Amino acid sequence: MVVENVSLKPYNTFGIDVNAKFFCNVSTVDELKHQLVKQSNNPIFILGGGSNMLLTKDIEALVLHINLKGIEILSESEDKVIVKAMAGENWHEFVLWCLKHNYGGVENLSLIPGNVGTAPIQNIGAYGVELKDVFVSCEAINIQNQTTKTFTKDDCKFKYRESVFKQELKGQYIITSVTLELAKTNHQLHTDYGAIKQELENSGIMQATIKNVSDAVIAIRQSKLPDPKDIGNSGSFFKNPVISKKQFKKLLENFPEAPSYKVSDELIKVPAGWLIEKAGFKGKRFNNYGVHNKQALVLVNYGSAKGSDIHQLAQLIQKTVKRIFDITIETEVNIL
Ligand code: EPU
Repeated sequence: MVVENVSLKPYNTFGIDVNAKFFCNVSTVDELKHQLVKQSNNPIFILGGGSNMLLTKDIEALVLHINLKGIEILSESEDKVIVKAMAGENWHEFVLWCLKHNYGGVENLSLIPGNVGTAPIQNIGAYGVELKDVFVSCEAINIQNQTTKTFTKDDCKFKYRESVFKQELKGQYIITSVTLELAKTNHQLHTDYGAIKQELENSGIMQATIKNVSDAVIAIRQSKLPDPKDIGNSGSFFKNPVISKKQFKKLLENFPEAPSYKVSDELIKVPAGWLIEKAGFKGKRFNNYGVHNKQALVLVNYGSAKGSDIHQLAQLIQKTVKRIFDITIETEVNIL
């Protein structure tokens, strides 16, 4: 059912109060196709978990809220299982479902806000694991002609926080389900990330299980990242910039303490959180919005901030980082 003039505040993790001109909660694929046919001449706006967007103005379109639910086992062998989850499933609840069944592969991605259907768009990642590591395929509907297409892992062109859905196919498809391959036995744990090791050690765990890793990730995230239920935010607002070795050398001349990760022989990733902190923004508060005090990569809405205020702050941060370090930081969040 299409409803007029609906506040999107409950539908975006930043908690920005803008209105949708029209709004429709879509619970089946048929209903989704039906709306696409009916609205073919009108503007539409696809809303998933609302966890990676900053809304700066009212949406003068029909907002289709993708609320498709269900988790299904497609096939399994002794040690592997192929699981299909519908796009509207909450990502973290899906991770908990996997843990309950002792299916390994997504435990490092615990507590990431958002829905299953939006996970491939930016190839969600945390603590040494990315969605692409367990991804098999996803189904998506072409907005123009309502046909269904299956995208394999190669089709998706996953990279760090990137996929084909953010690039050449942007705005053309609606992901309706995601299929992953998970491990039933011989779980390959990814505990190299320093904070996870530390957390497991602190808990006195020698032989970690996927549940232990998930608990460690949850504890780390809760200590650094604000819970959108308490403070509006969209996780990392910026991507970590990848720069050339030459540029990194220049950075080290002025800032020998700069942290970094090797991407390839030529490329180095520098944590944007460090750049932003060094630029003096960590914990800075302007009225109802600001920069989180425990992780400078996260911009927050303390109450009734406007999306445009947060956008202006983001631009100021980008300009300042560019001026001080000569490094461009790109937003990870979609600004709409
Ligand atoms: N740092 C600072 N100050 C800060 C924040 C970070 O100096 O305020 C430096 C520290 O040197 C720290 C390093 O940055 O050691 C890395 O920080 P952290 O481990 O918090 O990771 P990140 O690179 O800032 C990325 C992801 C997060 C993900 C973590 C863990 C991006 C843009 N962000 O953050 O993803 O949880 O790694 O894997 O890649 C998200 O995308 O929403 C998100 C939270």
